[in-house]
Amino acid sequence: MKILKTQVGIIGAGPAGLTLALLLRKQGIEAIIIEHRSREYVQARVRAGLLEQNTVDIYKSLGVANRLLKEGQEHHGVYLSFDGQRIRIPFGELTGGRNITIYGQQEVVKDLTDEWIAGGGQIYFEAPATKIENFDTDNPKIYFEHQGEAGIMDCDFMAACDGYHGIGRKTLPSDTFKEYSVTYPFSWLGILAHVAPSTDELIYAYHERGFALHSLRSDKISRLYIQVDNDDSVDNWSDERIWEELAIRLGTEGWTLKTGPIFEKGITPMRSFFTDNMQAGRLFLAGDAAHIVPPTGGKGLNLAVADVKHLADGLAEYYQQNSINALDNYSAIALKRIWRAQDFSNFMTTLFHKQDEHGSFTYQLQKAKFDYIKVSKAYATTIAENYVGLPFEAFE
Ligand code: FAD
Ligand code: PHB
Repeated sequence: MKILKTQVGIIGAGPAGLTLALLLRKQGIEAIIIEHRSREYVQARVRAGLLEQNTVDIYKSLGVANRLLKEGQEHHGVYLSFDGQRIRIPFGELTGGRNITIYGQQEVVKDLTDEWIAGGGQIYFEAPATKIENFDTDNPKIYFEHQGEAGIMDCDFMAACDGYHGIGRKTLPSDTFKEYSVTYPFSWLGILAHVAPSTDELIYAYHERGFALHSLRSDKISRLYIQVDNDDSVDNWSDERIWEELAIRLGTEGWTLKTGPIFEKGITPMRSFFTDNMQAGRLFLAGDAAHIVPPTGGKGLNLAVADVKHLADGLAEYYQQNSINALDNYSAIALKRIWRAQDFSNFMTTLFHKQDEHGSFTYQLQKAKFDYIKVSKAYATTIAENYVGLPFEAFE
């Protein structure tokens, strides 16, 4: 039996777990991470790409932003398109200079893992947590497996950063939380392609054939998404069909979409989910373990990072001032931003996806919103400040 002992036991080496480990190290607090999957698997998982200003600032403060600042692309605006008409929302003038950075989640995960290991941090890959015990005592325990051997991690606190399917949330006593869940009647087909982006900033588009998004990863790699039905399959989507559909949905006068070889295709369902309590005794949930937002607002990874910032602040107060107050306030503080992100992600999703037939009442409301963005600086500002992410002080 492998026995590990540390101050904070972290389950999951996604953005939430790794960021938490590095924030704790900066405060002189010990942590050990156990991760279900292999290092190769975690680092190859294609997901998010949009980092808010807050997230980039945290990575700068942790000294892990060198590659992000060199290879990531800072964007000062975003294009919104409706029925072929494209407008731009400039962030700088509407948000007092806040921006977003486009940098792949798997690159973030690589940088954080390298930093954790280079600084002597312990991390066990292919080590699934199987059970959490004693969360309501001073001596919580995480049971896990590693290389065929059973293990126990003894710790002061446990952070379940183990994603939507993890065991952390399942351990919360059922009478301590309420869950909210919405499944949208559409999914995203996402692709990565070897082709220079056809745009300098992201394009979100409503079209009568459905939503489309043009994002990017580098000067040579584009990331694009289209709305598909929930029961659709990538087998129905040849490269040719995908490019044709994207060109139609993203199209606007005088613009052409460059095409190239597609090297990754995947379908992601769209849903909103969250629990209104992220703590039971000494067990804390963070990131996708506690909430999922549809990716239209680009908020998931950023919420995960914001959660663990609050958690690390609370743990630092506990170890440095022997006070449990900030930890007891963790759910309440995190939930303010989570509700805001749920609302904004729902707003972006319902504004740009095809929900029922073209020309319906719902469509007319979508169009009325778009027409209002065009003429109202106040409405454009609301979108810009939510999109780049509100500063931490806004929710304190
Ligand atoms: P995860 O990344 O899911 O990490 C959890 C980890 O825990 C995993 O590595 C898992 O293997 C491990 N684990 C699970 N169970 C156990 C166990 N029992 N024991 C040990 N380890 C375990 N967000 C954005 O901010 N911007 C975007 O642009 C964006 N776009 C997206 C596009 C798509 C197509 C998708 C699918 C998501 C997108 N997101 C986006 C969301 C974002 O990817 C997630 O919110 C983010 O990964 C959450 O990080 P996390 O660390 O909480 O969870
Ligand atoms: C991405 O680049 O993967 C991305 C960007 C913005 C989103 C969602 C995904 O809203």
